[in-house]
Amino acid sequence: MNQNEQKILVANTAIDTLIKEGKIFSGMKIGLGTGSTAMPAVKRLAEHLEKGTIKDVKAVVTSFQTANACQEWGIPVYSLNDKIIDGQLDLAIDGADEVDPNCNCIKGGGAALLQEKMVEYNSKIFVVIADSSKSVQTIGTGFRVPVEIIGAARIPVVKALNALGADCVLREGVKKCGPVITDNGNQILDCLWQNPIDVPKMEEEINKIVGVVENGLFTKNKPIVFIAKEDGSVEQRNWH
Ligand code: 5RP
Repeated sequence: MNQNEQKILVANTAIDTLIKEGKIFSGMKIGLGTGSTAMPAVKRLAEHLEKGTIKDVKAVVTSFQTANACQEWGIPVYSLNDKIIDGQLDLAIDGADEVDPNCNCIKGGGAALLQEKMVEYNSKIFVVIADSSKSVQTIGTGFRVPVEIIGAARIPVVKALNALGADCVLREGVKKCGPVITDNGNQILDCLWQNPIDVPKMEEEINKIVGVVENGLFTKNKPIVFIAKEDGSVEQRNWH
């Protein structure tokens, strides 16, 4: 199976399994992620709503991409602040850029890390869906960790990240001159370390820097992870 086929397989398998296990249920409050693996999961959820397998799901989205998908597929969208949501979700499902054996993740390859973390750290259950290329032994030294920053603080933030051992690259737009501007009006520094890092500690250290809005290390709310394999199987990892 190629990478795209794996993304669709893992998205469909995760949604179907979570419904069977009662973790996705009628009337629930669900967080919906961003990216090319999250989108087929949103579509599968919409198909179940259409069929009536489940009813009356309230979604909180993590990006304009996901908001548009929900509008197209008829899933009602709320904010974390709406009274009916009350700042707490039952389950959130999303893709990831890398996942390590401790279920630590890098997210934000699609620049949606801030809203993803807001949603996924305020959810009772967090579920990551990924193709086989995302499963790694060590994070921080392969895929660059996205850090969302206030543009006006770029130089001091780069210096502070350098002091934490990171090499930083400002993410540039595609078909747009200059930096990527996130859904929240900020910029992204993609950061790489030469040597393995203490991932939970680094998540905290980066956020102490003035001018950093959020970083793409996700270590605090351990996800259930579904990973598709090239042979067409799907592995489920539960963190205890
Ligand atoms: C967006 C994300 C995505 O979940 C992550 O980049 C994985 O994307 P994809 O499923 O397209 O490979 O964090 O900010």
